[in-house]
Order: sequence, then structure tokens, then C-alpha cells
Amino acid sequence: MTTPSPGKPRADALIDGERLITRLRTLARIGARADGGVNRQALTPEDAAARKLVVGWAQEAGLAAETDPIGNLYLRHAPAGAENAEPIVSGSHLDSQPAGGWLDGAYGVIAALEAVQSLKENRAALSRPVEAVAWTNEEGSRFIPGVMGSSFYVDRLSISEIEDKLDPDGVRLGDALAELLAATPDLPVREQPRPIAGLVEAHIEQGPILEAERLTIGVVEGVQGMRWMEITVRGRTDHAGTTPLRQRRDAMLAATSMVQALADALDDPDDIIRFTVGRFIARPGAPNTVADEVTFTIDLRHPDEHVLERSTETIGRVVAEKAGDCDFDIALQEALKPVRFDERIVETVASATSDLGLPARRMVSGAGHDAAVLAQRYPCGMAFVPCHKGISHHPSENADEADLIAGAAVLAETLRRLASD
Ligand code: GLV
Ligand code: MN
Ligand code: MN
Repeated sequence: MTTPSPGKPRADALIDGERLITRLRTLARIGARADGGVNRQALTPEDAAARKLVVGWAQEAGLAAETDPIGNLYLRHAPAGAENAEPIVSGSHLDSQPAGGWLDGAYGVIAALEAVQSLKENRAALSRPVEAVAWTNEEGSRFIPGVMGSSFYVDRLSISEIEDKLDPDGVRLGDALAELLAATPDLPVREQPRPIAGLVEAHIEQGPILEAERLTIGVVEGVQGMRWMEITVRGRTDHAGTTPLRQRRDAMLAATSMVQALADALDDPDDIIRFTVGRFIARPGAPNTVADEVTFTIDLRHPDEHVLERSTETIGRVVAEKAGDCDFDIALQEALKPVRFDERIVETVASATSDLGLPARRMVSGAGHDAAVLAQRYPCGMAFVPCHKGISHHPSENADEADLIAGAAVLAETLRRLASD
């Protein structure tokens, strides 16, 4: 970190770094895994406990806490006279991957709480309210699709469309959501989303660039596009010992040949396409019975929408070619176009960073984020901090405390600038 010049803001005066780290480490105990990671999937008792903890911190700080019908949390500081202005918002998600880390999402929520609380404590002269938000089910690892709370906020989905979705254990989303909301019975419920003047999400980079280049902040200009599909392959169950292979309709063999052929067909010499099969489920799932149904997921990403479109056509062709005697369906579950963030918000993140004397670069996010969904309707941007070896969606995910503190200071200064326009 270089020394800021006189008259410029100082990171340690903007936020309480020790409080930020203590809260992150306390939150990481909820859903802690024995291997050091976190399993706090959306709409579980752990998710509810995390929300309660964060609401408690916000209320102790004198912030107004509210929720909404999908369980998003709003933690608000509205300075006198500015109550009716559209707020500047910052936040991320409290849910994690099943084998996740302590920072993906949690960092953006706790950094936002720290920034909003510090602006209140420092009596920053603001002409707009500032709000920290925790968006429900960003990950989509338990209930598909992800970015659920932010999609609800911009009217991309309604609760009636998703309430009958089931998790892999057959639990209904509507029931899990009712339990989550029942855990904070005293929170006022905001029935309708309200307009937002600007939004900034802080997040660990989840990739290796900032660490490799020894930079503290990534000023995020956009997010690559993403499509999620579920492929279902249907054959026939048969006895594993007696049925000759040539008489079978084996959904497992068809599905595995699809996965390999898709990886080959989508191979990109420039290594920009991201193609992932992260879930593969065979039924009935007995060792001595031929599988009659296999479902697998595809997560496909690229910064260019045309490439996503062409790759989707390739997927349709390859699946049909490899189905053999089996039937198949391809269900598109999520499609997010590549996003370019708002120029003014990006510039404000960049100038706050440079005035704090922090080394930074511009970048595009490979991971998906709530801010990319909210950008469909509101001016948005993001700030990244480095994480160790770029590892994320893994229990060993980690980052330097000094970088986490610097990122929260950038966030506080960015929110201050945006909320004093
Ligand atoms: C978010 O976790 C993503 O899938 O990019
Ligand atoms: Mn995340
Ligand atoms: Mn994630």
C-alpha cells in the first residue's frame, strides 16, 4: 500500500478493520465444515442463523433492518433529511456452496455492513440513504436458479414461479423459505422492491489475476455471460447380470458419452469458454441395475453472447447425436447476458481506490454476481480484492486480512461519494 497524499482519505479512518475481520470470522462458524470450509446453503437453518447474526449486528449499530418476501435483508442508514431519496446500496450473499469458503458472498455483505455502519458513526454528510443488503440464494447450489433474491428484485422472477422447486432431497422451496422468514418474525417485510440510485458489490476476485499482479483492488467493468442447462437422458432399467449390452437402453452410457463429446466440441483454443458439468445423477442408482434416467447440469460461460448462442446450438446437436436409443430433454434454467457496468459507478470505484493510494486494475468478472442481475435495471459496479491462488468454491478459499480491510475502505469511500451527489 502506498501512503496517501495529504488531504486524501485514509483507509484506516474510513472503517473499523478489526470489527470487519472479527465479524467475518464469527460468521464463518455458522455452517463451518471440519476441513475449514463453509457449508451454508440457501434457505437452510444455517442460512437463517447467519441472517439473524447479521441483523443483530446491524440493529446494535442503530441501522433499520427489513426483509422482503424472498428473504433478502436490508440494513439501512437514512440520515435526517435524506429519508426519501433513492438509496445507494451495497451487498452480496450469505449462502455458500456445499464445499464453499468463508468469503464468497459473506465478504460483500459484511464489508457493506461495515461501510454503512462506519458512514453512520463518522456522521458522513450524505444526501441519500445507504443500505447493506444480503441477497437470497445467489449460489443456486441447493435450489436452482441462483441469483434468486436479486432476480426477484428486478422482477426477473416471482415467488409463484419458484415456490414448487425442489432441492436434491425433495424439500420444497416455498416451505424452506417460510422457515427462513419465520426465524426473524419481528423483521418488517418490504413487500415491493424500491428503486436504487446506485449499487456497488464487494467480492473476492475468485480468480488469480490480482494476486499474480500484486494488486489490491480490481475495478470491475463487467461480468461474462452465463447459461445453465439441465439435460435429462431416459433409457430403460434392466438386470445388470442378464441383459446383453446390445439389448439395453442405458442412460448412463449415453449421458457419459454426451459429456465427453460436449467437452471436445466446446474445446476453445483460446481457453476462454467455461464449460462445466457439476452435477450428475443416475437413477435408480443401484449397482446391479442399468440406469434408466440420468440428469446432468451444464454451466456455460463466455464474455460474448454470440459465442454462448453458438455453443448452445452445439450442445443441442451433440446431445442429439449421442442419445442413441435413449430419449432426452434439454431445459434452459438460467440465461444471463454479459453485463457492462455503469460508467459513473465504475469511475467512482476507480477514483476512490486511487485516492486511497491502492494499486488496482480494471477487469471483467468470470464469476456470476447479484450485481450483474441488478445491473439490468439499476446503475451498478463492483470492487474485487485478491484471494489466495485465485481459489474459490473450495474450503481452502482465503484472502489477506489487509486486502479485505482495504476493499471495505474502498467500498465505504465509494458509497460516500455516490451518496453525496
Ligand atoms: C457464483 O457463485 C457463480 O456461479 O459464478
Ligand atoms: Mn459470490
Ligand atoms: Mn459463489
